[in-house]
Amino acid sequence: MDEAGFHRLRVGGVDRLTDDAVAVTFELPDALAPVFRHRAGQHLTVRRPGSDARRTYSVCTSAVTGPLRVAVKRLDGGLLSTWLTDGLRPGDELEVLPPAGRFGPAVDPARRRRYGLVAAGSGITPLLSIAATVLDVEPHSEVVLLYGNRTTGDVMFLEELSDLKDRHPTRLELLHVLSGEEQESELLSGRLDRQRLQRLVATLVPVDEVDEWYLCGPFALVTEAREVLREAGARQVHVELFHAAAPPPRPPRPPGQAVATSTVIATLHGRTSTVAVERDGQPVLDAVLAVRPDAPFACKGGVCGTCRARVVEGAVAMDVNYALEPDELAAGVVLTCQAHPTTDRVRLAFL
Ligand SMILES: Cc1cc2nc3c(=O)[nH]c(=O)nc-3n(C[C@H](O)[C@H](O)[C@H](O)COP(=O)(O)OP(=O)(O)OC[C@H]3O[C@@H](n4cnc5c(N)ncnc54)[C@H](O)[C@@H]3O)c2cc1C
Ligand code: FES
Repeated sequence: MDEAGFHRLRVGGVDRLTDDAVAVTFELPDALAPVFRHRAGQHLTVRRPGSDARRTYSVCTSAVTGPLRVAVKRLDGGLLSTWLTDGLRPGDELEVLPPAGRFGPAVDPARRRRYGLVAAGSGITPLLSIAATVLDVEPHSEVVLLYGNRTTGDVMFLEELSDLKDRHPTRLELLHVLSGEEQESELLSGRLDRQRLQRLVATLVPVDEVDEWYLCGPFALVTEAREVLREAGARQVHVELFHAAAPPPRPPRPPGQAVATSTVIATLHGRTSTVAVERDGQPVLDAVLAVRPDAPFACKGGVCGTCRARVVEGAVAMDVNYALEPDELAAGVVLTCQAHPTTDRVRLAFL
């Protein structure tokens, strides 16, 4: 493990899923198996050796029976996804942080639940892990998956999903919604947007029959789906985003205004470090990274949640938050990549 917590893992397999997506399976030496044991819906932060570029990829397999595997969809012009989908070969090595994230249920064999999953495109990855894990672990639970794509050829994990359905014909309901292909049902032919979701929850997937919802896909779809579900009375709606627009730049300091500095005391990996942070300057994470390169982060955009810390003393304000759920906010958890101190002293414990 290096000083930033990355482990070098050998790639055992690179399997093409669609024209622009691959599944990447890691080989895990026995000693690292406990370190990389994932829970349903968690993700890995991946770095290309010899580069600073790190990105997050959700584990797409059952937490019980699956190997450690992620799936990457190429984004045209994207730095890491183009290389991972076109340049990565079995036998190559990647630098990987252990699984992180809180998206996904705490599965329990005694539970009897109906889970509603809504995905579009590569957003299927954490939801496939959740579906496979729930079906493996909770014999009395059911899963309904609404999965939006353009055509059948764009569907990542077409075969895996159909195998899962064959193994659990009564407990998995699989609804493919295709925007660029006619299907037998008019309801499933078209874009998975607000109107279609409203019709789906009014007919095929009644909200009052679902205990927990998990949504993952593009920002617009996820935002609309959350609204539709809440309006329809959904009880628990959890969201995972892969990307969000960058927040607007902070307003410049008015001329003549003195620089206000706070003392930030950060604890991570059992060691405490103290840094001075300008209140309207760089985020707390960047100031901490200057002295502690082991501080965890990936997107620096308030999306992935890797940089989470609990505020133990003082206060901070965040620019944006797309990753933390209300219970975490209530417990004083913040995204350090978005945090600026608002008190003279701030004490943080990285999670
Ligand atoms: C929690 C989490 C889990 C993720 N899981 C997966 C996964 O399982 N599979 C997967 O393929 N990706 C996943 N992602 C997205 C992934 O981390 C990268 O953002 C993506 O691969 C693009 O990286 P890149 O280096 O190719 O593009 P970059 O070089 O970072 O970006 C190129 C351009 O595209 C924009 N952009 C970046 N990411 C996206 C995006 N996702 N959608 C639209 N525009 C974008 C950027 O703003 C930039 O303009 C996940 C992200 C998060 C936060
Ligand atoms: S690094 Fe991704 S939310 Fe902060």
